[in-house]
Amino acid sequence: MTTDNLAEFADKGFSTRAIHSGQPSDAETGAVNVPIYLSSTYAQQEIGKHKGHEYARVSNPTRTALEENLAALEGGTSAHVFGSGMAAISALVTMLKTGDHVICGSNVYGGTPRLFNQIVAHYGIDFTYVDTTDAENVRRALTAKTRLVHIETPTNPMMQLTDIRAVAAICKAHSIDLCVDNTFMSPYFQRPIEHGATIVMHSTTKFLNGHSDGLGGVLVCTTPEQKERFEFVQKCTGGILSPFESWLVLRGVKTLAVRMRQHDSNGRKVAEWLASEPKISRVFYPGLKDHPQYALAARQMSGFGSLISFETGSLENANTLLKSVRVCTLGESLGGVETLISHPATMTHAAIGVEGRASIGITDGLVRISVGIEEVEDILADLKQAVAKI
Ligand SMILES: Cc1ncc(COP(=O)(O)O)c(C=O)c1O
Repeated sequence: MTTDNLAEFADKGFSTRAIHSGQPSDAETGAVNVPIYLSSTYAQQEIGKHKGHEYARVSNPTRTALEENLAALEGGTSAHVFGSGMAAISALVTMLKTGDHVICGSNVYGGTPRLFNQIVAHYGIDFTYVDTTDAENVRRALTAKTRLVHIETPTNPMMQLTDIRAVAAICKAHSIDLCVDNTFMSPYFQRPIEHGATIVMHSTTKFLNGHSDGLGGVLVCTTPEQKERFEFVQKCTGGILSPFESWLVLRGVKTLAVRMRQHDSNGRKVAEWLASEPKISRVFYPGLKDHPQYALAARQMSGFGSLISFETGSLENANTLLKSVRVCTLGESLGGVETLISHPATMTHAAIGVEGRASIGITDGLVRISVGIEEVEDILADLKQAVAKI
């Protein structure tokens, strides 16, 4: 219920909105932080009369503050948070009915096709996976029943980009929704709605929360129908984000801009060093001038972020490097303040099998790094000593 606050900050800069939108000082106490409202129910004044909240599955003031804040940052009209990124994508597909068709990027987070193929397809919804680095592949896959296109850009872990504007134009011409998973870039570096996307999705677990301590997901909308739909899904299915985790994301987002700037600065330096290191045969990072989509990256994003993949040559080399790091932590996930390093073939992309990995270029020697915001000299020194052992 912060309409005045949202209007007041609507034309302010990104960091100002990140810190203030949806978060006026508490009217009762003056607290500058939105409290964690641990109340499952709310007193009502008379039949049908209440102060905006009735029952916490439907809405909660801490969650509402986060939803208003994320909508403001992505340039959407509403946002709806869920218990994880996968819960948000599960809510997204409730837009569909039996017989509908979805086009999905072929190189998205592995959990997305797992949900689509092993659960949603059982309800008679068809999925086609295409390489969306060429927008024409989306056009070619359209059928009369296509209702949704779901893409991720840049992709995990090959760091390929999709031209959001080109895909959005195709979707618009056929009245199809375009959902962009913006987890890797955050709204600080990329705002898909400005390029024509009709829905933006995030795993807030990553950069938005930023501290590797809470799980969450969000759908940012652009129409009243989507708002009504996803509010209804929150109420019906109950997979909502808890007040405490909503508060964690609110706190994380306050420093999103400074964190992203540091992630980006450290990411560029690590990518440049990796590219200069003879033992590393290839580096996948959109901020390197030899990335095949460097021009698109520079046009579509205002920074390049801190996700980098690189080729060590073999499983043995990857393992030697991964067990030798000390500042970098070997582990899944990304987007936290600490540098996380992982092995896609045996971790995030194990489930898609050898052929699946080969089809998108993931080798046994590929390593992915989510460069954190530690001192970059320490990250570089750690990588140098680990690479020297290969
Ligand atoms: C790009 C992307 N989308 C979605 C997800 C799923 O999010 P969650 O783990 O919060 O369910 C992930 C998780 O790694 C991801 O990297």
